[in-house]
Amino acid sequence: PGEMFLQFHDLLLPKETHSFDSLKFAQEFAFKDDDVLAATYPKSGTIWMQEILPLVLNGGDLTLIHTIPNWDRVPWLEEKRLAVVLDKLTSPRAMVTHFPYHHMPPSFHASKAKVIYVMRNPKDIMVSSYYFHQMAGFLQDPGTFDEFMATFLEGRVFFGKWTDHVKSWRNAELGDRIMYITYEEMVQDLPAALRKISDFLGRNLSEEVIQKIAEHCSFKAMKGNNMSNFDLVPNELMDSDKSPFLRKGIVGDWKNHFSAEQLVERYRLDIVGLTSTHSSGSGTI
Ligand code: PPS
Repeated sequence: PGEMFLQFHDLLLPKETHSFDSLKFAQEFAFKDDDVLAATYPKSGTIWMQEILPLVLNGGDLTLIHTIPNWDRVPWLEEKRLAVVLDKLTSPRAMVTHFPYHHMPPSFHASKAKVIYVMRNPKDIMVSSYYFHQMAGFLQDPGTFDEFMATFLEGRVFFGKWTDHVKSWRNAELGDRIMYITYEEMVQDLPAALRKISDFLGRNLSEEVIQKIAEHCSFKAMKGNNMSNFDLVPNELMDSDKSPFLRKGIVGDWKNHFSAEQLVERYRLDIVGLTSTHSSGSGTI
């Protein structure tokens, strides 16, 4: 795994998508006041936000989601692609980041850019990440689910420990510049989540537009959208025969993966500890 990752302060990052240059570019990035960012720990709903944000910001115009791949349409702040596509982004620009809060660049703090922090039940994240590690050629082989659980809980995964990430953003004192939302509430009632997002971004979308956006951001619609389902990525990098990126899109798949032993005897305390900072939607433990 050593060669696959670079160490950036406290974080392990895949070299395929990140470099010291891209991290420097992110640190020097000049945020504008009308920029919008979705911040996530990996596997919490990032690509969902790459679909939602352009639609909300452009009042339901489908052009971007049907013509530009998600990684160029709403690029990752820390990834190599940002430098390539930056000039093509039109304001208000939408971006995503997996950075914990303490790695946000100085210009972010100086700006009024808004952030939506998306959280997801860590047990479902662990399951999603386990399959992602199987299919992504640029991540280490996860081994058995039991082995991966130890790796995940110790934070030996890209972007570190889930608890550290969530704590960093929950403690960010950004006032009305930040909105928190959960993957679970988005699954439960997408139109309601879209209304919350559009209100936060000061967009007054009609109910008709909200319904239209919800339709195009459904799991099924995204799976059928070549610009969003990662079919354009070569198999060596993402092998969708092993597991598709848009895998299940449900809440509670952990119930099909955690054995009673893993849940109760060995990991219960860790899991309860993990879940306690999760504001809502974590539901049953
Ligand atoms: S990454 O690698 O960090 O960018 O991954 P990320 O996009 O954060 O997370 C991937 C999971 O999000 C699910 N997803 C969705 N669920 C429901 N509805 C929609 N529209 C949707 N889009 C993406 C995706 O299926 C991954 O979860 P799992 O549990 O693996 O299916």
